[in-house]
This record gives sequence, structure tokens and C-alpha cells, in this order.
Amino acid sequence: MLDPVQSSRLEVQIAGVQFKNPVIGASGTFGYGLEFADLIDLDRLGGFSTKGLSARPLAGNPPPRIVETHGGMLNAIGLQNVGARAFIEDKLPLIRKYDTRVIANVFGYSDDDYLEAVSILNEGDGIALYELNISCPNVKEGGIVIGNDERAAARLTEKVKRISHRPLIVKLSPNVADIARIARAIVQAGADALSLINTVVGMSIDVNTCKPRLNYGTGGLSGPAIRPIAVRMVYEVAAAVKVPLLGMGGIAAAQDALEFMIAGATAVQIGTANYYDPRVTMKVIDGLESYCRDRSIEQITSIVGSLSFPH
Ligand SMILES: Cc1cc2nc3c(=O)[nH]c(=O)nc-3n(C[C@H](O)[C@H](O)[C@H](O)COP(=O)(O)O)c2cc1C
Repeated sequence: MLDPVQSSRLEVQIAGVQFKNPVIGASGTFGYGLEFADLIDLDRLGGFSTKGLSARPLAGNPPPRIVETHGGMLNAIGLQNVGARAFIEDKLPLIRKYDTRVIANVFGYSDDDYLEAVSILNEGDGIALYELNISCPNVKEGGIVIGNDERAAARLTEKVKRISHRPLIVKLSPNVADIARIARAIVQAGADALSLINTVVGMSIDVNTCKPRLNYGTGGLSGPAIRPIAVRMVYEVAAAVKVPLLGMGGIAAAQDALEFMIAGATAVQIGTANYYDPRVTMKVIDGLESYCRDRSIEQITSIVGSLSFPH
């Protein structure tokens, strides 16, 4: 008999890429994967998304860059990363030893920055997909500006799609009035899949100093506090587009991951929970496996978008 952990019922496909299960470490909370090699069995993980990679290395914002809030955290890291070249030369050869899907998360301050980063990453061996971060709230230009403007987002998607050697996921911002509208424009421009949500812009104030608790002022809220917003947005986007969705925002248990899948996500990403429970991805995989087994679900894909209303 197959070990339940090795069974194929958790397999999912995203843009033609097969994942052994739908559990993926979220960008910015999972380093370059290698940081988790001693903490979890990376070979059991569906995949992970790297910290946002830019054409050149970035130092990020000055500290304090992270503060804890009720049910979550605010961050304003500002896209610190080793740069696309160092990633393919120093990190990828080590990551390739593991049997897990690597998603390269890409960031730029302009369309040309994104294109330059993707053309460098195209040379790397072992990347399954790209995830375009057009939704980071912690930088003053680039990403977020593009992600809030459907025409700019569509234009960038089209340009990247043209040069990309890999399927393209575009990551959506929740800090918009109508996420379904932006999702449609990006899919029409050629995105193969969408991921959502990035962090929700927030602020926290130290009442003794009357200063923001983050040096940057505002930050991106993540963790369980944002989960209902994220589930609602996945539901709205699933109704608007046909491409696969990768849902995230506050997932800390299998139950949470299931909410996203029932709302319409083919896979899920887990971010903030890794900080307080580095083994959370393994627990979610086990929980999904039990859920399927207990309900005799042969393929987890059968629950994707299965939400039904009481009337
Ligand atoms: C410290 C930190 C850094 C992040 N960096 C990135 C990043 O580089 N690129 C990106 O697309 N998303 C980034 N994110 C957003 C997460 O990938 C995820 O979309 C968000 O945190 C919601 O999921 P969660 O509540 O499970 O953390 C970051 C989040 C955190 C907390």
C-alpha cells in the first residue's frame, strides 16, 4: 500500500506544471528554500516561491522593518534580495538537489527592470514558473504602482510573457477597488495563472513617541488577520477568470488551505505562519491528505471552486 504521504491524490497542475501537492511556501517568507532544508523535508513540499528577485541586488528599507500586530504582522522589508544573477549561480545549483517546484518571484521598479530580471532568470536551470510581484506595498515606485493600474499591469504582463521561457503567474494586490477587473486585464494580456493576495497596506503607531512603529511608515499586513479578505478575493477572482489561482493570506492550518481551495484556488501559498511554526507546510500537507482520505476524495482538485450557497 502506498504511504498516504506519497499518494497522488494531492497532485495539482498549474499552467502545465505538475506539483506533488498544492502547498507552496510564499515569497519573502521562505528565503531561497534552502533556509528550510534543516527544518522540513523539502522533498515533500509542493513548491516554494523565492524572495522577490530583481535584476540587481537590493538592500531593502532601513529597520525597524517588521512589527507584530493582532493576528498578524506588518512588514516593510522593501525587497531586499541577492539579485537574479547570484540566485541562478549560487542558490539554484543547491536548490536543484531537492524534488520541489521552484517559483522565481520577480520584482522591478520599471518594465525594463522586470524584463532584465526575467532574461537573467531564463538562463537558470530548475525554475518551474515565474511569479511577477506587481503588488508590493513597501516600495515607492514600480511594483505597486503597476499592480494598481490595470493598463500598466496588462502591458507588463504582455511584455514579460513575450520573453519568458516559463509559464507566468502574476501576483495581485488586495489594495485595489476591484480585484476581479485587474485580474481579467492581466489574464487577457497572457498570464498563465494568478496568485493572490499580497499584503494589505496598514500602519501601527507607537503612542509614546508618536512615531510609526515601522521606519517606512506604512507596511504590509499579513497573517491570519487578513485571511477572510483573501478568501473573499479568491472567490471573486475565480468567478472572473479561467486560469488557475494560487491563494494565500493567513493560512496556518489545513482547514485554512481548504477554504481557499473551495473558494477557487488550485494551490495555496503559506507565508507568515512559517515564522512562528516552521513546520506548518508539512502539517498542512498531512491535514489535506487526511481530509481527502476521510471523505474518500480521490483527487483534491475536485474540491477546487466547489463552494455552494445554502439557497
Ligand atoms: C516579510 C515578508 C516579505 C514578503 N516579501 C514578498 C516578496 O518579496 N514578494 C512577494 O510577491 N510577496 C512577498 N510577501 C507577501 C507574501 O508572499 C504573501 O503574499 C503575504 O504575506 C500573505 O500571505 P501570509 O498571510 O500567509 O503571509 C512578503 C510577506 C512578508 C510577511
